[in-house]
Amino acid sequence: MSAGGLPGRARPGAGRGPKDPSLRRSLALFRAFLHEQDDPDACYALLARDAADQVEAYDGPVAGRIVVDVGGGSGHFTEEFRARGADAYLFEPDVRELAEKPPEGTVVADGYLLPLADGTADVTFSSNVLEHVADPQTFLSELARVTRPGGLIYVSFTNWLSPWGGHEWAPWHYAGAERARARYRRRTGRPAKHTLGENLFPVHIGTTLRHVRARDDVRIVSARSRYWPFLTETVVKVPGLREFATWNLLLILRRCPV
Ligand SMILES: C[S@@+](CC[C@H](N)C(=O)[O-])C[C@H]1O[C@@H](n2cnc3c(N)ncnc32)[C@H](O)[C@@H]1O
Repeated sequence: MSAGGLPGRARPGAGRGPKDPSLRRSLALFRAFLHEQDDPDACYALLARDAADQVEAYDGPVAGRIVVDVGGGSGHFTEEFRARGADAYLFEPDVRELAEKPPEGTVVADGYLLPLADGTADVTFSSNVLEHVADPQTFLSELARVTRPGGLIYVSFTNWLSPWGGHEWAPWHYAGAERARARYRRRTGRPAKHTLGENLFPVHIGTTLRHVRARDDVRIVSARSRYWPFLTETVVKVPGLREFATWNLLLILRRCPV
């Protein structure tokens, strides 16, 4: 069932976008990010297609499967999984993040405590949430709990030392979070959305990998750069360098049989 032996390579016929990894794909994603503010729908629709392709590359078609999207924000990912025939549900704690018309059946719930029985999901999906929770280990435990044995867990996050680690105040976070936030306010006239220690936390790749490897409820299928076109797994193997060069870590985990 798993295509885990072919990291980052879509099964024939499964992918809808350019090959992952490829320069063409990375450039398309980068161009979409440049328009995140003026055309968020197009940006997130592309990102959602890309992420769904990645899930299917590791786990086969999502059609007919239960997909749980934790911290899914606007719901673009949930909608994409539904468009592919999955029973997908959005769990999002912050109503301000929801779209005007969220996917039907959206649940306002915290990822630390999902209102789901153990082993409910075939695929548990969490894109760019881990760096926004104060206790990533508890968050990961909850993702593992709701995933059925043998099910797939997709977790990606932007690590703190990534050039994008400071989010809207990047790359000035290298000079310190407070200074970077103050600069953002001065330059834009708006307060920054993120405050370190409140809704953004310094998550590191090395620490996260050590934690995940020590767990007995999941095993790592792949640890790779999510968006990068080259050496996607190699870069993650180099301590130090990986914190700067990975940009965004994608962990594909398999829930261990219990
Ligand atoms: C950067 S957004 C990512 C949204 C979407 N998943 C994406 O990739 O575009 C971070 C999301 O994490 C959510 N979040 C923060 N803390 C959370 C928690 N404890 N449980 C679940 N989601 C959380 C936020 O409300 C927000 O929607």
